[in-house]
Amino acid sequence: MTYARITGTGGYLPDKVVTNKDLEAALDTTEEWIESRTGIRERRIAADDEFTVDLAERAALQAIDAAGIERRAIDLIVLATTTADQVFPATACLLQQRLGNGGYPAFDVQAVCAGFLFALGVADKFVRTGASQCALVVGAETFSRIIDWSDRRTCVLFGDGAGAVVLQAGDAPGVMSTHLRSDGQYKDLLQVPVGVSRNFSKVRDGGAFTTMQGGEVFRWAVTAMSDIIDETVAANDLSKDDIDWLIPHQANIRIINAVGARAKIPRDKVVVTVGEHGNTSAASVPLALDQAVRDGRVRPGHRVLLEGFGGGFTWGSALITM
Ligand code: ACO
Repeated sequence: MTYARITGTGGYLPDKVVTNKDLEAALDTTEEWIESRTGIRERRIAADDEFTVDLAERAALQAIDAAGIERRAIDLIVLATTTADQVFPATACLLQQRLGNGGYPAFDVQAVCAGFLFALGVADKFVRTGASQCALVVGAETFSRIIDWSDRRTCVLFGDGAGAVVLQAGDAPGVMSTHLRSDGQYKDLLQVPVGVSRNFSKVRDGGAFTTMQGGEVFRWAVTAMSDIIDETVAANDLSKDDIDWLIPHQANIRIINAVGARAKIPRDKVVVTVGEHGNTSAASVPLALDQAVRDGRVRPGHRVLLEGFGGGFTWGSALITM
């Protein structure tokens, strides 16, 4: 049986740090409110001339380097983003051009903060079926571009960044299972209510902003992300004690703690980066994975459960043996 195995990870955060104190100076908010309600202390924001593909490229090159492969070995790019550089071509194609070779499939997936799990789920199936031998899976966002920086209810939550993994075919797992879910009936609770086909003039005039019913999103995120842990563990005939690390979407420390408590996963097994990264949407899970690999917490042989939740609603998980 063929499995897809993560052989390298990478991450990139823009240089510019925006602290809660910076936001306190610009908005009707306080450092204390932001940290106590979200766990976020600072976030990174892309420079004006820095785009999603730039972040994606930096993370991808790190993952390629960590995997010890040549760029020309890549035969698939699946890139998750909510904040594509252009309407088209796909940001995955822009990244493919930067990497310098082509001819293989490169496409974007859009599942907002669950995007990396969807991208990983798709790439895993390409590798398992033999359609790909070496896939590059990326989550990259310049989410700051779809935030109203005068809206204290949303702007304190988000940041920019990118994370990437190289996924190679092998005989042993690897990705043990992926679980992807959507429920469009909740589309209005978390959205940017304009786009190319609808009210494009607002996009053009700089009015494409994230809106959110925070309390509802909070409740749903906790339920969906704790239930999918149970589903993932059961699908693999494992118990939660068999999980070495939980890497949840980094939206809010209170969501992460509530998920951990409901799922009965001890806090010292949960990777948390939200304090320094904020919510980087599709980049949050691969960035957290990369950090935990680089600081030596996640090691070869560890069982890692990744999970995400985002607008749509969309949510998903992946159980991985590193
Ligand atoms: N500073 C000060 N006060 C604020 C701020 C702020 N930045 N933002 C909101 N408030 C005020 C509100 O206006 C409200 O005031 P009011 O009672 O006078 O109207 C008060 O604080 C309480 O607001 P609540 O919404 O009840 O605060 P809550 O404790 O629910 O925290 C939060 C709000 C942090 C948004 C929370 O609901 C949350 O994290 N929700 C999840 C949303 C999320 O993470 N979305 C990200 C995308 S989805 C995902 O990635 C999972």
